Amino acid sequence: MKVVTTIADMQEARQRLTAPVGLVPTMGYLHEGHLSLVSQARAENPSLVVTIFVNPTQFGPREDFKAYPRDTEHDLALLEKEKTDIVFIPPAKEMYPPGFDSWVEIAGVTERLEGACRPGHFRGVTTVCAKLFNIIQPDIAYFGQKDAQQAIVIKKMVADLNMNLKVVTLPTVREPDGLAMSSRNTYLNPEERKAALVLYQALTLAQKLWAAGDTDADKIRREMLALIKREPRAKIDYVSLADPETLEELGRVKTPALASLAVKIGTTRLIDNVVLE
Ligand code: PAF
Repeated sequence: MKVVTTIADMQEARQRLTAPVGLVPTMGYLHEGHLSLVSQARAENPSLVVTIFVNPTQFGPREDFKAYPRDTEHDLALLEKEKTDIVFIPPAKEMYPPGFDSWVEIAGVTERLEGACRPGHFRGVTTVCAKLFNIIQPDIAYFGQKDAQQAIVIKKMVADLNMNLKVVTLPTVREPDGLAMSSRNTYLNPEERKAALVLYQALTLAQKLWAAGDTDADKIRREMLALIKREPRAKIDYVSLADPETLEELGRVKTPALASLAVKIGTTRLIDNVVLE
């Protein structure tokens, strides 16, 4: 496994890779969710590149960029086990040198949900992903369904800007009790960890109501909200039942529909979703 930190070295190493090249972009602090992407990418491609970059431009000024968990040594050990070919770990000044002034911004689908709660977030995500795609030239890039809107936005960018790669989304990996795996789960104390189950419980409730024949989206959203409000540690950012492509809120649930939510447990903001289909 080769570890590279400069764009020039990454581009040089890329030339020697056998196509197709699979890419898993990450912000590190890897867990089973990331590893499911890495192992699928490994199985599907003769060459595998993983990036570790805590991207400052996708964090708001009052968000957790500084506190975001980091453990590069452990990440590298995991990636070595997965037989990764190249790990690209650029410092921030390599990706955003002085004078950096170009941004990739996708309209429409970024304006709702996460985009509405975290202004500028998706501009940071699409800019860094466009840069990583340009530098690494992957044939397939792998993203997790846990960040459903992110995957939709990246697919839109790739289609709209005619980028020459395929974007694959893989299922959310959950703890045995249902909590979606996330690097941010590490912020939760034991009481908050229990309270965080309310996210999956609300999504499961949506699934149950819909499976029992309920198609009134307002009613399903109201029941999800009521369930979450019973948890005193939870503060709701949004609960959504939306079209899985446009992310427009639905009046009637027709399938497939994306049930998603963002909830703060204490000071930790968690997101999760399920597709009703
Ligand atoms: O999902 C993430 O970890 C990040 O948003 C990504 C895609 C690596 C871009 O920084």
